[in-house]
Formats: sequence, C-alpha cells, structure tokens
Amino acid sequence: MSAHTPVIVILISGRGSNMDAILRSRVPARVAAVISNRPGAAGLASASAAGIATEVIDHRAYAAREDFDAALADAIARHAPDWIVLAGFMRVLTPRFLERFANRVVNIHPSLLPAFPGLHTHRQALEAGVRLHGATVHVVTPALDHGPILAQAAVPVLPGDTEDSLAARVLVQEHRIYPATLRALLEGRITLEAGGVVRFQSPGVEQGGKALINPEEP
Ligand code: GRF
Repeated sequence: MSAHTPVIVILISGRGSNMDAILRSRVPARVAAVISNRPGAAGLASASAAGIATEVIDHRAYAAREDFDAALADAIARHAPDWIVLAGFMRVLTPRFLERFANRVVNIHPSLLPAFPGLHTHRQALEAGVRLHGATVHVVTPALDHGPILAQAAVPVLPGDTEDSLAARVLVQEHRIYPATLRALLEGRITLEAGGVVRFQSPGVEQGGKALINPEEP
C-alpha cells in the first residue's frame, strides 16, 4: 500500500495569485478542490486550467453566516483534506467551523502580524509610518488574524510608496513564503503542538544572521 498522499483544499475569493503560486510550486499534496465563495473569482478559471476541480459556495445564498459555514464545511469534508489553505479567502470563519478543522486551516495575511490585522493592511502600514512591512503565514483560530505564526517575510517601506506599490512588493514575498511554508508543513518540518506551540525543523530556521534594516544606514 502506498503512503498517504496529503490532500489539500484551497479556498479563494478573488484573483487567486497565491493559489497559483501554490499550484506552480508543486507542493507534495493532491489539491482535491479549489472552492470560492464568489462565483466570479478569477482564480476559478486558473484552477480549472490547471486541471483542479472547482466549486462555488456563494455566501449570498445563505441568510446566516453559520449556514454558509456549515455548507462550506460539508463541501470541504467530502474531500477529507489534511490541510485547508485560505488564499485570499475574504470570509471570517465561525468558531464552529474552526473547531471542526482545528489546527488544519492556514492563511496568509498581508502584514507582519500581530500588526495590522483586518482589511487595508497596506494603508494601515503607510498611515502608521512603519519602515518594514510584510506578510505572515499563520494557523487560523477564532481570534481573527491572531493564530500561531508559521512564517513571515519583511519588505522595506520606501519613500513615495502607495498602497499599490507596497502591496505589489509584499505579494512577491507572499508567493515565496506560502508555498514554502505549506511544503514544510506537509513534510513535517513544521509541526503544531498543544497550546499553539510551533516547532521548526526547517533548515535555515536557526540562521539568525540576516537582518532587514530600513533605511539601511539610518
Ligand atoms: C493577498 O494579499 C493575501 O495575503 C490576502 O488577500 C490577497 C489575495 O490575493 N489575504 P490573491 O487572491 O492570492 O491574488
């Protein structure tokens, strides 16, 4: 009998560029489905083009958040995934949903959490005047954007940056760290322990020598 190939389900709401990066990186898992809560999500077409089954569960068809989450959870459970990967999925998931898939839901958030949870993170960063900004891959818990942190990438905030220029610089790094972190989870190099403790066996995790300083010579 062959070893179990991990199964993942990816949830999207829009463009799906992180989903694309994950599909391109050929993580060691079978992507059983891409599910969108928006029928018009551009990522659905690219998933289909990559030969992945797609499903739409339109949140507008459900009167209550709990009903949408229950339908979504049932659709996901049919694939019996090891990991549920949120890639630009713009719905807040209920505690009930997250209990059902505890410690199996991961997300990428476009800020260096715990700074700037929620929406408009690049605007928040510009308004706060931070000199470093970035992205975070984390486990999803009921506390919005506050689950255990698995990986982060930092980028400089440059003079003249707009929300768009900053978002583009962060997105490049999202496309690097999300597939890499998923691979590490799938290969057991990052493990989750009780109480939200994250253990790393990844090469490089002990290499603290690199620092991103901005401006480089204050
Ligand atoms: C990304 O910036 C992601 O971090 C955030 O929403 C955006 C989605 O982009 N959660 P895409 O759909 O992956 O292109």
